[in-house]
Amino acid sequence: MTYNPSFHLLFVLWIHCFIICLAISVKNLTTDQFALLQIKNGIADPQNVLANRWEASSSVCNWIGVSCGVIHERVVALNLTNMDLTGTIPPHLGNLSFLPSLDLSSNHFFGHLPKELGQLHRLRVVRFSFNALSGEIPSWFGNLHKAKMLKMRSNTFTGTIPGTLVNMSNLEVLDLGFNQLFGQIPLSIFRITSLKEIYLEDNSISGSLPDDLCVHLPKLINCIANLTQLKELYLTANDLRGEIPKKIGNLLSLELLSIQEMKGLGGEIPMEIGNLLNLEVLSIQEMKSLKGQIPTSIFNISSLKIIALAGNSLSGNLPDSLHHLSKLEGLYLDANELSNTIPRSIGNLTQLTELQLGSNNFEGISFLQIL
Ligand SMILES: *[C@@H]1O[C@H](CO)[C@@H](O)[C@H](O)[C@H]1NC(C)=O
Ligand SMILES: *[C@@H]1O[C@H](CO)[C@@H](O)[C@H](O)[C@H]1NC(C)=O
Ligand SMILES: *[C@@H]1O[C@H](CO)[C@@H](O)[C@H](O)[C@H]1NC(C)=O
Ligand SMILES: *[C@@H]1O[C@H](CO)[C@@H](O)[C@H](O)[C@H]1NC(C)=O
Ligand SMILES: *[C@@H]1O[C@H](CO)[C@@H](O)[C@H](O)[C@H]1NC(C)=O
Ligand SMILES: *[C@@H]1O[C@H](CO)[C@@H](O)[C@H](O)[C@H]1NC(C)=O
Repeated sequence: MTYNPSFHLLFVLWIHCFIICLAISVKNLTTDQFALLQIKNGIADPQNVLANRWEASSSVCNWIGVSCGVIHERVVALNLTNMDLTGTIPPHLGNLSFLPSLDLSSNHFFGHLPKELGQLHRLRVVRFSFNALSGEIPSWFGNLHKAKMLKMRSNTFTGTIPGTLVNMSNLEVLDLGFNQLFGQIPLSIFRITSLKEIYLEDNSISGSLPDDLCVHLPKLINCIANLTQLKELYLTANDLRGEIPKKIGNLLSLELLSIQEMKGLGGEIPMEIGNLLNLEVLSIQEMKSLKGQIPTSIFNISSLKIIALAGNSLSGNLPDSLHHLSKLEGLYLDANELSNTIPRSIGNLTQLTELQLGSNNFEGISFLQIL
Protein backbone atom coordinates (compact mmCIF):
# COMPACT_ATOMS: atom_id res chain seq x y z
CA MET A 1 0.00 0.00 0.00
CA THR A 2 1.45 3.36 -1.09
CA TYR A 3 1.59 6.29 1.23
CA ASN A 4 -1.08 8.87 0.32
CA PRO A 5 -0.16 12.27 1.80
CA SER A 6 -3.57 13.84 1.23
CA PHE A 7 -5.29 10.94 2.91
CA HIS A 8 -2.85 11.29 5.81
CA LEU A 9 -3.63 14.99 6.08
CA LEU A 10 -7.38 14.37 6.09
CA PHE A 11 -6.96 11.66 8.67
CA VAL A 12 -4.91 13.92 10.94
CA LEU A 13 -7.46 16.71 10.57
CA TRP A 14 -10.27 14.32 11.35
CA ILE A 15 -8.52 13.04 14.48
CA HIS A 16 -7.91 16.63 15.59
CA CYS A 17 -11.49 17.59 15.02
CA PHE A 18 -12.69 14.48 16.79
CA ILE A 19 -10.63 15.26 19.89
CA ILE A 20 -11.39 18.99 19.88
CA CYS A 21 -15.08 18.58 19.12
CA LEU A 22 -15.42 15.91 21.80
CA ALA A 23 -13.62 18.19 24.24
CA ILE A 24 -15.95 21.07 23.40
CA SER A 25 -19.05 18.96 23.79
CA VAL A 26 -17.91 17.40 27.07
CA LYS A 27 -16.94 20.79 28.42
CA ASN A 28 -20.24 22.28 27.45
CA LEU A 29 -22.48 19.59 28.87
CA THR A 30 -20.43 19.96 32.04
CA THR A 31 -21.01 23.72 31.84
CA ASP A 32 -24.73 23.09 31.62
CA GLN A 33 -24.61 20.74 34.58
CA PHE A 34 -22.59 23.24 36.59
CA ALA A 35 -25.06 26.01 35.73
CA LEU A 36 -28.05 23.88 36.70
CA LEU A 37 -26.47 22.84 40.01
CA GLN A 38 -25.78 26.51 40.77
CA ILE A 39 -29.45 27.21 40.05
CA LYS A 40 -30.53 24.38 42.33
CA ASN A 41 -28.28 25.66 45.12
CA GLY A 42 -29.44 29.24 44.67
CA ILE A 43 -33.18 28.73 45.04
CA ALA A 44 -35.55 27.42 47.69
CA ASP A 45 -37.38 24.23 46.76
CA PRO A 46 -39.88 23.60 49.58
CA GLN A 47 -41.58 20.69 47.78
CA ASN A 48 -38.21 19.02 47.12
CA VAL A 49 -38.99 18.80 43.44
CA LEU A 50 -35.35 19.18 42.44
CA ALA A 51 -33.72 17.92 45.63
CA ASN A 52 -33.39 14.25 44.69
CA ARG A 53 -33.94 14.58 40.99
CA TRP A 54 -31.07 16.89 40.13
CA GLU A 55 -28.08 14.79 41.24
CA ALA A 56 -24.58 15.14 39.80
CA SER A 57 -24.43 11.33 39.57
CA SER A 58 -26.98 11.15 36.73
CA SER A 59 -26.84 12.89 33.37
CA VAL A 60 -28.52 16.32 33.33
CA CYS A 61 -30.45 15.07 30.33
CA ASN A 62 -32.44 12.83 32.72
CA TRP A 63 -33.17 15.56 35.23
CA ILE A 64 -36.73 16.69 35.75
CA GLY A 65 -37.61 19.74 33.65
CA VAL A 66 -34.45 19.41 31.54
CA SER A 67 -34.34 18.30 27.90
CA CYS A 68 -31.21 17.78 25.81
CA GLY A 69 -30.64 18.01 22.09
CA VAL A 70 -30.17 14.86 20.04
CA ILE A 71 -27.28 16.08 17.88
CA HIS A 72 -25.42 18.39 20.27
CA GLU A 73 -25.73 16.94 23.71
CA ARG A 74 -26.66 20.25 25.31
CA VAL A 75 -29.60 21.43 27.36
CA VAL A 76 -32.23 22.67 24.88
CA ALA A 77 -35.20 23.19 27.21
CA LEU A 78 -35.53 24.10 30.85
CA ASN A 79 -39.10 23.90 32.08
CA LEU A 80 -39.56 24.44 35.81
CA THR A 81 -43.13 25.65 35.60
CA ASN A 82 -45.39 25.27 38.62
CA MET A 83 -42.80 23.71 40.97
CA ASP A 84 -43.30 26.10 43.90
CA LEU A 85 -39.72 27.38 43.55
CA THR A 86 -38.67 30.56 45.33
CA GLY A 87 -35.69 32.87 44.99
CA THR A 88 -34.02 35.17 42.52
CA ILE A 89 -33.20 33.94 39.05
CA PRO A 90 -29.53 32.89 39.19
CA PRO A 91 -27.15 34.53 36.68
CA HIS A 92 -25.73 31.08 35.92
CA LEU A 93 -28.75 30.48 33.74
CA GLY A 94 -26.90 32.64 31.22
CA ASN A 95 -24.37 29.80 30.78
CA LEU A 96 -26.92 27.46 29.18
CA SER A 97 -25.75 28.81 25.86
CA PHE A 98 -27.66 26.38 23.62
CA LEU A 99 -31.01 27.00 25.30
CA PRO A 100 -33.95 27.76 22.99
CA SER A 101 -36.75 27.25 25.50
CA LEU A 102 -36.96 28.62 29.04
CA ASP A 103 -40.12 28.31 31.11
CA LEU A 104 -40.04 29.39 34.75
CA SER A 105 -43.69 30.40 34.94
CA SER A 106 -45.98 29.88 37.93
CA ASN A 107 -43.38 29.88 40.71
CA HIS A 108 -42.38 32.50 43.28
CA PHE A 109 -39.27 33.92 41.63
CA PHE A 110 -38.64 37.50 42.65
CA GLY A 111 -36.10 40.25 42.03
CA HIS A 112 -34.64 41.50 38.76
CA LEU A 113 -33.91 39.42 35.69
CA PRO A 114 -30.10 38.95 35.55
CA LYS A 115 -28.42 40.56 32.56
CA GLU A 116 -26.63 37.27 31.81
CA LEU A 117 -29.89 36.00 30.29
CA GLY A 118 -29.21 38.42 27.45
CA GLN A 119 -26.45 36.02 26.34
CA LEU A 120 -28.99 33.31 25.53
CA HIS A 121 -29.26 34.39 21.93
CA ARG A 122 -30.77 31.08 20.82
CA LEU A 123 -33.88 31.57 22.96
CA ARG A 124 -37.14 31.22 21.08
CA VAL A 125 -39.56 30.77 23.97
CA VAL A 126 -39.25 32.81 27.17
CA ARG A 127 -41.89 32.38 29.86
CA PHE A 128 -41.71 34.08 33.25
CA SER A 129 -45.45 34.64 33.81
CA PHE A 130 -47.05 34.30 37.26
CA ASN A 131 -44.07 35.05 39.47
CA ALA A 132 -43.12 38.07 41.59
CA LEU A 133 -40.37 39.42 39.34
CA SER A 134 -39.71 43.13 39.55
CA GLY A 135 -37.62 45.92 38.09
CA GLU A 136 -37.84 47.27 34.58
CA ILE A 137 -38.30 45.17 31.48
CA PRO A 138 -34.61 44.79 30.61
CA SER A 139 -33.35 46.40 27.43
CA TRP A 140 -31.20 43.34 26.68
CA PHE A 141 -34.32 41.51 25.52
CA GLY A 142 -33.43 43.25 22.26
CA ASN A 143 -30.51 40.78 21.95
CA LEU A 144 -32.89 37.85 21.68
CA HIS A 145 -33.39 38.12 17.95
CA LYS A 146 -34.80 34.62 17.57
CA ALA A 147 -37.40 34.84 20.30
CA LYS A 148 -40.93 34.14 19.13
CA MET A 149 -42.63 34.26 22.51
CA LEU A 150 -42.03 36.55 25.47
CA LYS A 151 -44.51 35.97 28.28
CA MET A 152 -44.08 37.89 31.52
CA ARG A 153 -47.69 38.28 32.57
CA SER A 154 -48.63 38.73 36.26
CA ASN A 155 -45.40 39.94 37.80
CA THR A 156 -44.55 43.35 39.24
CA PHE A 157 -42.45 44.72 36.42
CA THR A 158 -42.46 48.47 36.37
CA GLY A 159 -41.16 51.33 34.20
CA THR A 160 -41.71 51.82 30.51
CA ILE A 161 -41.50 49.24 27.75
CA PRO A 162 -37.96 49.48 26.30
CA GLY A 163 -37.62 50.49 22.66
CA THR A 164 -34.94 47.82 22.18
CA LEU A 165 -37.70 45.23 21.92
CA VAL A 166 -37.90 46.29 18.26
CA ASN A 167 -34.82 44.12 17.72
CA MET A 168 -36.81 41.02 18.67
CA SER A 169 -37.64 40.86 15.01
CA ASN A 170 -39.19 37.39 15.10
CA LEU A 171 -41.48 38.00 18.04
CA GLU A 172 -45.00 36.64 17.63
CA VAL A 173 -46.38 36.81 21.18
CA LEU A 174 -45.69 39.65 23.61
CA ASP A 175 -47.50 39.27 26.90
CA LEU A 176 -46.81 41.94 29.52
CA GLY A 177 -50.30 42.02 31.01
CA PHE A 178 -50.90 42.46 34.76
CA ASN A 179 -47.73 44.32 35.65
CA GLN A 180 -47.07 47.89 36.76
CA LEU A 181 -45.81 49.31 33.50
CA PHE A 182 -46.45 52.93 32.74
CA GLY A 183 -45.56 55.56 30.19
CA GLN A 184 -46.00 55.35 26.48
CA ILE A 185 -45.74 52.29 24.32
CA PRO A 186 -42.62 52.79 22.17
CA LEU A 187 -43.60 53.34 18.55
CA SER A 188 -40.84 51.03 17.41
CA ILE A 189 -42.64 47.97 18.83
CA PHE A 190 -45.09 48.28 15.99
CA ARG A 191 -42.32 47.67 13.47
CA ILE A 192 -42.14 44.06 14.66
CA THR A 193 -44.36 42.90 11.86
CA SER A 194 -44.19 39.27 12.97
CA LEU A 195 -46.30 40.09 16.05
CA LYS A 196 -49.52 38.12 16.29
CA GLU A 197 -50.58 38.61 19.89
CA ILE A 198 -50.04 41.57 22.22
CA TYR A 199 -51.26 41.62 25.80
CA LEU A 200 -50.80 44.82 27.77
CA GLU A 201 -53.92 44.79 29.92
CA ASP A 202 -53.94 45.86 33.55
CA ASN A 203 -50.99 48.19 33.48
CA SER A 204 -50.91 51.98 33.69
CA ILE A 205 -49.76 52.63 30.16
CA SER A 206 -50.76 56.19 29.50
CA GLY A 207 -50.23 59.25 27.45
CA SER A 208 -49.26 62.06 29.73
CA LEU A 209 -46.53 63.42 27.46
CA PRO A 210 -47.85 65.79 24.80
CA ASP A 211 -45.58 64.56 22.03
CA ASP A 212 -46.06 60.86 22.50
CA LEU A 213 -46.96 59.03 19.36
CA CYS A 214 -48.64 55.75 20.00
CA VAL A 215 -50.41 56.44 23.22
CA HIS A 216 -53.66 58.03 22.25
CA LEU A 217 -55.67 55.15 20.97
CA PRO A 218 -56.14 56.45 17.39
CA LYS A 219 -52.42 56.77 17.03
CA LEU A 220 -51.88 53.47 18.75
CA ILE A 221 -54.05 51.76 16.19
CA ASN A 222 -52.31 53.71 13.42
CA CYS A 223 -49.19 52.00 14.63
CA ILE A 224 -50.89 48.67 15.12
CA ALA A 225 -52.55 48.90 11.71
CA ASN A 226 -49.30 47.64 10.12
CA LEU A 227 -49.53 44.42 12.10
CA THR A 228 -51.63 42.66 9.54
CA GLN A 229 -50.92 39.26 11.08
CA LEU A 230 -52.19 40.27 14.51
CA LYS A 231 -54.72 37.70 15.74
CA GLU A 232 -55.45 38.85 19.25
CA LEU A 233 -55.43 42.33 20.72
CA TYR A 234 -56.27 42.94 24.37
CA LEU A 235 -56.27 46.49 25.68
CA THR A 236 -57.85 46.64 29.10
CA ALA A 237 -57.74 49.11 31.96
CA ASN A 238 -55.00 51.22 30.46
CA ASP A 239 -55.23 54.99 30.36
CA LEU A 240 -55.55 55.26 26.60
CA ARG A 241 -57.65 58.15 25.36
CA GLY A 242 -59.46 59.19 22.21
CA GLU A 243 -61.75 57.17 19.98
CA ILE A 244 -61.54 53.71 18.52
CA PRO A 245 -60.20 54.57 15.05
CA LYS A 246 -61.51 53.32 11.72
CA LYS A 247 -58.11 51.82 10.98
CA ILE A 248 -58.91 49.01 13.33
CA GLY A 249 -60.67 47.59 10.29
CA ASN A 250 -57.21 47.00 8.73
CA LEU A 251 -56.38 44.23 11.17
CA LEU A 252 -57.93 41.63 8.94
CA SER A 253 -56.42 38.65 10.78
CA LEU A 254 -57.94 39.61 14.12
CA GLU A 255 -59.79 36.79 15.83
CA LEU A 256 -60.08 38.43 19.21
CA LEU A 257 -60.49 42.13 19.93
CA SER A 258 -60.87 43.24 23.51
CA ILE A 259 -60.99 46.91 24.50
CA GLN A 260 -62.32 47.43 28.00
CA GLU A 261 -62.54 49.75 30.99
CA MET A 262 -60.82 52.81 29.58
CA LYS A 263 -62.34 55.93 31.04
CA GLY A 264 -60.74 58.24 28.48
CA LEU A 265 -62.19 56.41 25.53
CA GLY A 266 -65.25 57.86 23.82
CA GLY A 267 -66.86 58.37 20.44
CA GLU A 268 -68.63 55.59 18.60
CA ILE A 269 -67.77 52.04 17.62
CA PRO A 270 -66.49 52.38 14.03
CA MET A 271 -68.41 50.40 11.42
CA GLU A 272 -65.05 49.31 9.95
CA ILE A 273 -65.02 46.61 12.63
CA GLY A 274 -67.39 44.88 10.22
CA ASN A 275 -64.36 44.28 7.94
CA LEU A 276 -62.89 41.88 10.47
CA LEU A 277 -64.37 38.76 8.98
CA ASN A 278 -62.25 36.38 11.07
CA LEU A 279 -63.37 37.84 14.38
CA GLU A 280 -64.61 35.29 16.90
CA VAL A 281 -64.64 37.39 20.06
CA LEU A 282 -65.57 41.06 20.06
CA SER A 283 -65.47 42.62 23.49
CA ILE A 284 -65.80 46.39 23.85
CA GLN A 285 -67.14 46.90 27.35
CA GLU A 286 -67.43 49.10 30.42
CA MET A 287 -66.82 52.46 28.79
CA LYS A 288 -69.61 54.86 29.59
CA SER A 289 -68.28 57.52 27.17
CA LEU A 290 -68.82 55.15 24.25
CA LYS A 291 -72.04 56.25 22.53
CA GLY A 292 -73.96 55.87 19.30
CA GLN A 293 -75.46 52.85 17.63
CA ILE A 294 -73.99 49.38 17.34
CA PRO A 295 -72.79 49.32 13.72
CA THR A 296 -74.98 46.87 11.80
CA SER A 297 -71.87 45.65 9.98
CA ILE A 298 -70.94 43.77 13.16
CA PHE A 299 -74.00 41.56 12.80
CA ASN A 300 -72.69 40.46 9.42
CA ILE A 301 -69.55 38.78 10.81
CA SER A 302 -70.59 35.15 10.61
CA SER A 303 -67.47 33.90 12.47
CA LEU A 304 -68.49 35.67 15.69
CA LYS A 305 -69.00 33.49 18.75
CA ILE A 306 -69.08 36.22 21.39
CA ILE A 307 -70.37 39.78 21.12
CA ALA A 308 -69.83 41.58 24.43
CA LEU A 309 -70.74 45.26 24.39
CA ALA A 310 -72.07 45.61 27.93
CA GLY A 311 -71.68 48.61 30.20
CA ASN A 312 -71.34 51.30 27.53
CA SER A 313 -73.82 54.03 26.55
CA LEU A 314 -74.86 52.51 23.25
CA SER A 315 -78.29 53.50 21.94
CA GLY A 316 -80.62 52.72 19.03
CA ASN A 317 -82.03 49.35 18.19
CA LEU A 318 -80.76 45.95 17.13
CA PRO A 319 -81.10 45.11 13.42
CA ASP A 320 -84.06 42.93 12.45
CA SER A 321 -81.95 40.26 10.92
CA LEU A 322 -79.43 38.45 13.09
CA HIS A 323 -79.41 35.25 11.06
CA HIS A 324 -75.76 35.73 9.85
CA LEU A 325 -74.59 35.01 13.38
CA SER A 326 -75.05 31.27 13.14
CA LYS A 327 -72.06 30.56 15.43
CA LEU A 328 -72.99 33.05 18.13
CA GLU A 329 -72.75 31.55 21.61
CA GLY A 330 -72.91 34.67 23.76
CA LEU A 331 -74.54 38.06 23.30
CA TYR A 332 -73.95 40.54 26.11
CA LEU A 333 -75.55 43.94 25.61
CA ASP A 334 -76.68 44.69 29.15
CA ALA A 335 -76.33 48.09 30.82
CA ASN A 336 -76.62 50.28 27.72
CA GLU A 337 -79.37 52.58 26.39
CA LEU A 338 -80.63 50.29 23.65
CA SER A 339 -84.33 50.54 22.83
CA ASN A 340 -87.21 49.30 20.68
CA THR A 341 -88.02 45.66 20.27
CA ILE A 342 -85.73 42.70 20.43
CA PRO A 343 -85.68 41.12 16.96
CA ARG A 344 -87.43 37.77 16.77
CA SER A 345 -84.56 36.42 14.64
CA ILE A 346 -82.68 36.08 17.91
CA GLY A 347 -84.67 32.86 18.26
CA ASN A 348 -82.86 31.48 15.20
CA LEU A 349 -79.42 31.62 16.81
CA THR A 350 -79.21 27.94 17.60
CA GLN A 351 -75.79 28.08 19.27
CA LEU A 352 -76.73 30.89 21.64
CA THR A 353 -76.40 29.86 25.28
CA GLU A 354 -75.78 33.22 27.03
CA LEU A 355 -78.00 36.21 26.42
CA GLN A 356 -77.83 39.32 28.57
CA LEU A 357 -79.94 42.29 27.61
CA GLY A 358 -80.90 43.72 30.99
CA SER A 359 -80.74 47.39 31.99
CA ASN A 360 -81.69 48.77 28.61
CA ASN A 361 -84.92 50.34 27.31
CA PHE A 362 -86.13 47.35 25.33
CA GLU A 363 -89.85 46.76 24.88
CA GLY A 364 -91.36 43.33 24.70
CA ILE A 365 -88.65 41.40 26.53
CA SER A 366 -91.45 39.04 27.58
CA PHE A 367 -91.52 37.17 24.27
CA LEU A 368 -88.04 35.84 25.07
CA GLN A 369 -89.60 33.67 27.70
CA ILE A 370 -91.36 31.63 25.05
CA LEU A 371 -88.15 31.01 23.06
C1 LIG B 1 -43.68 23.41 30.42
O1 LIG B 1 -44.41 22.37 31.01
C2 LIG B 1 -45.79 22.64 31.17
C3 LIG B 1 -46.42 21.51 31.94
O2 LIG B 1 -45.97 20.29 31.51
C4 LIG B 1 -46.40 22.83 29.80
O3 LIG B 1 -47.76 23.13 29.90
C5 LIG B 1 -45.67 23.98 29.09
O4 LIG B 1 -46.18 24.13 27.78
C6 LIG B 1 -44.19 23.72 29.04
N1 LIG B 1 -43.50 24.88 28.52
C7 LIG B 1 -42.91 24.93 27.33
C8 LIG B 1 -42.24 26.20 26.96
O5 LIG B 1 -42.90 23.99 26.56
C1 LIG C 1 -21.39 30.70 34.71
O1 LIG C 1 -21.93 31.94 35.04
C2 LIG C 1 -21.42 32.52 36.21
C3 LIG C 1 -22.24 33.75 36.54
O2 LIG C 1 -22.65 34.43 35.40
C4 LIG C 1 -19.96 32.77 36.05
O3 LIG C 1 -19.40 33.38 37.21
C5 LIG C 1 -19.25 31.47 35.79
O4 LIG C 1 -17.91 31.68 35.51
C6 LIG C 1 -19.89 30.71 34.66
N1 LIG C 1 -19.37 29.35 34.67
C7 LIG C 1 -19.01 28.68 33.57
C8 LIG C 1 -18.50 27.29 33.78
O5 LIG C 1 -19.10 29.13 32.47
C1 LIG D 1 -31.11 47.06 17.21
O1 LIG D 1 -29.98 46.37 16.69
C2 LIG D 1 -29.20 47.15 15.80
C3 LIG D 1 -28.17 46.25 15.17
O2 LIG D 1 -27.61 45.38 16.11
C4 LIG D 1 -28.61 48.31 16.57
O3 LIG D 1 -27.83 49.11 15.72
C5 LIG D 1 -29.75 49.13 17.13
O4 LIG D 1 -29.24 50.17 17.93
C6 LIG D 1 -30.68 48.29 17.96
N1 LIG D 1 -31.85 49.06 18.28
C7 LIG D 1 -32.27 49.23 19.50
C8 LIG D 1 -33.46 50.10 19.68
O5 LIG D 1 -31.72 48.70 20.43
C1 LIG E 1 -46.78 51.55 8.75
O1 LIG E 1 -46.65 51.32 7.35
C2 LIG E 1 -46.64 52.52 6.60
C3 LIG E 1 -46.63 52.14 5.15
O2 LIG E 1 -45.92 50.96 4.92
C4 LIG E 1 -45.40 53.33 7.01
O3 LIG E 1 -45.37 54.54 6.28
C5 LIG E 1 -45.49 53.64 8.49
O4 LIG E 1 -44.33 54.31 8.92
C6 LIG E 1 -45.64 52.36 9.29
N1 LIG E 1 -45.89 52.70 10.67
C7 LIG E 1 -45.12 52.28 11.67
C8 LIG E 1 -45.53 52.71 13.01
O5 LIG E 1 -44.18 51.54 11.49
C1 LIG F 1 -74.12 42.61 5.28
O1 LIG F 1 -73.89 41.62 4.30
C2 LIG F 1 -74.77 41.70 3.22
C3 LIG F 1 -74.53 40.48 2.32
O2 LIG F 1 -73.22 40.09 2.34
C4 LIG F 1 -74.55 43.00 2.48
O3 LIG F 1 -75.44 43.13 1.40
C5 LIG F 1 -74.80 44.16 3.46
O4 LIG F 1 -74.51 45.39 2.85
C6 LIG F 1 -73.96 43.98 4.69
N1 LIG F 1 -74.38 44.97 5.65
C7 LIG F 1 -73.52 45.75 6.30
C8 LIG F 1 -74.13 46.76 7.21
O5 LIG F 1 -72.32 45.66 6.17
C1 LIG G 1 -85.86 31.48 11.44
O1 LIG G 1 -85.64 30.26 10.79
C2 LIG G 1 -86.77 29.76 10.12
C3 LIG G 1 -86.46 28.37 9.61
O2 LIG G 1 -85.13 28.24 9.27
C4 LIG G 1 -87.15 30.70 8.99
O3 LIG G 1 -88.29 30.25 8.32
C5 LIG G 1 -87.43 32.07 9.59
O4 LIG G 1 -87.67 33.01 8.56
C6 LIG G 1 -86.29 32.53 10.45
N1 LIG G 1 -86.71 33.71 11.18
C7 LIG G 1 -86.06 34.84 11.18
C8 LIG G 1 -86.68 35.94 11.97
O5 LIG G 1 -84.99 34.99 10.62
